Amino acid sequence: MEIERRSDVTTPSGSESPGSVDTPATERGNLFDELDELLRRHSVETPYILVTGGLGFIGSHTTLELLKAHYNVIVVDNLSNAFEDVFDRVARLAREFHEQNGTPMPSMHLHAHDYRDTAALRPLLDSYQTESRWGTPKSKIAGVIHFAAYKAVEESIRHPLKYYANNVGGLIDFAATLGDYGIKTFIFSSSATVYGTLATSGLPLKEELCAHKEEVYIDHDGVSQTIQPGCTGITNPYGRTKWICETILADLAASDPEWTIVALRYFNPVGCDPSGLLGEDPRQAPTNLLPVVIKVMTGQYSELSMFGSDWETKDGTAVRDFIHVTDLARGHIAALSTANAGKLAENFRTFNLGTGYGNSVMDVVNTMEAVSSQKIPKRVADRRKGDVGYCVAVADRSQQELQWKTEKTLKDACTDICNFLEVRKMAM
Ligand code: UD1
Repeated sequence: MEIERRSDVTTPSGSESPGSVDTPATERGNLFDELDELLRRHSVETPYILVTGGLGFIGSHTTLELLKAHYNVIVVDNLSNAFEDVFDRVARLAREFHEQNGTPMPSMHLHAHDYRDTAALRPLLDSYQTESRWGTPKSKIAGVIHFAAYKAVEESIRHPLKYYANNVGGLIDFAATLGDYGIKTFIFSSSATVYGTLATSGLPLKEELCAHKEEVYIDHDGVSQTIQPGCTGITNPYGRTKWICETILADLAASDPEWTIVALRYFNPVGCDPSGLLGEDPRQAPTNLLPVVIKVMTGQYSELSMFGSDWETKDGTAVRDFIHVTDLARGHIAALSTANAGKLAENFRTFNLGTGYGNSVMDVVNTMEAVSSQKIPKRVADRRKGDVGYCVAVADRSQQELQWKTEKTLKDACTDICNFLEVRKMAM
């Protein structure tokens, strides 16, 4: 299925053009050609960013933050785990933001197809090539943020080939196509899951623990350590797909200095935009903690099973580095601008995106109960297979090299989720 939607627009006054469904290459009448030319000229100043999976939980928040930061956004999303109305909500929030600030609304396009659909992708990329009578044509797309991937750990154990085909095979073809068009700034959605059992080894989770080439670093005791490339603790196929993709991208960057690639290792994204208009609303049954808590709060599940109460933590429940999704989204923009400014230490670089602080499952429940004034029925259950008791980032590298740090708290995340539930209730 290929649906194209467009929320334009980019008139300097910030007013919106009539809802059209064209890509820049589509044929139209003279009046539209002139208007298009105007829009194109304006767009030269504001680069386009292609976002795969841009309507999902992290993708939609990142799309919104990109639009707020004046980027034009092209979303490619097959809607397998997202809803199309998210497009309108993101557009509405971005438009409100720009109206309040008196700034022009960038353009936003949706191409509802799989990122692996090269037959649909090529004409899309063709339409963003600059027309040049001499030299190599260039793309107006200044970078790609790649979210589209399968991410359910348990499913990946049952269907590993499905995961390797989409997450790894898809990435190889996608990167090759982008390379053909000279689009070589790439932000990859990785995960703290690459650290696996290293999270509980007692070693602080620095990026160097899972490195793609030999790394020398100063450890927490001030001693210089040399780390060989590799990753030893991954516990499931989903995690391995993320590590393998990082490896492929590291090799690609090493082979061609024109590529600038960043792999962002997310810790535990939670919360939502404070408006409550965007949120974690997966089509599939959730397995992550906060989406399950939401199901309990809305009465769809009778209680929360807390997996494990005998971890070596302050209250026996597992500890995670919960990062507000808006902070996480802004981390992508920091990565993109650092990459495009040529300021990355290397043309392939990994970064942890986390707060650097841990909260337990019990902390999450207590915070949500306090914020919502609602009791959350819960029971202690056995540990979940493949879980670790503790996983918290060392966030120094991203703070220093991307000039980015988190600003929001767990309480903010819970408050914003309550807003999301209110908005949903009103819509019913
Ligand atoms: C999970 C994935 C990880 C992925 C990350 C991103 C697993 C094993 N790992 O990490 O690969 O990158 O999400 O979102 O799934 N919990 C409960 N009850 C529930 C659900 C969760 O007690 O109903 C507990 C879990 O046991 C865990 C903590 O909450 O201790 C966080 O769980 P979850 O949100 O699934 O994230 P991770 O397991 O950290």
